[in-house]
Amino acid sequence: MGVTVTVEPDRIPFGRTGLPGSLLDIALAHGVEIDHACGGVCACCTCHVIVKEGFGSLRPATEQEEDMLDNAPGLTTRSRLACQAIPDGSCDLVVDVPAWNRNLAKESDGHAGATGMGTGSSLRLGWTDSEAIGRLLLVARPEVHPLSVGFTNLHAWVCSLPGFDDPPDASNEGRLEAIQMAWLRAYEALHE
Ligand code: FES
Repeated sequence: MGVTVTVEPDRIPFGRTGLPGSLLDIALAHGVEIDHACGGVCACCTCHVIVKEGFGSLRPATEQEEDMLDNAPGLTTRSRLACQAIPDGSCDLVVDVPAWNRNLAKESDGHAGATGMGTGSSLRLGWTDSEAIGRLLLVARPEVHPLSVGFTNLHAWVCSLPGFDDPPDASNEGRLEAIQMAWLRAYEALHE
């Protein structure tokens, strides 16, 4: 279902997540959940959105945004990172939040440690942040089916994720399974 938002420019920035006046800043302030695993600092691609109308009114993407976008599942020529895309207000925009992102944003509600919500700080992940880790694995390895990966590789891949800072030996089978299931949900939402 679509949500229509009218932006009052003098209220920018609305919050502290994403660039001031960015699509993410605007969306979060108006109750539109867009996942933002790195806290809006252009260090992931979970805030990927597709700008269906008004694309030309956005400030051009930086090289860093383009690099991050290259990892986004379902990339299109109208893709942008919501935390970096700032409209100039010259026209209305129609922005689509990909279904896999929308679903996962809902699932991660209240999970501030994993999503970095509102802090703008760098991401720190541990073994119990299965939903966030599942999303990051999807982004890092979009072609891999989660159930094709054994626990030994899964353990190594989780430990190598940027921002993961729990001790490697603090994992166990239950935690790895929870991560694999979270990754599977993200994978299935992307391919639904
Ligand atoms: S929230 Fe991470 S790049 Fe936008």
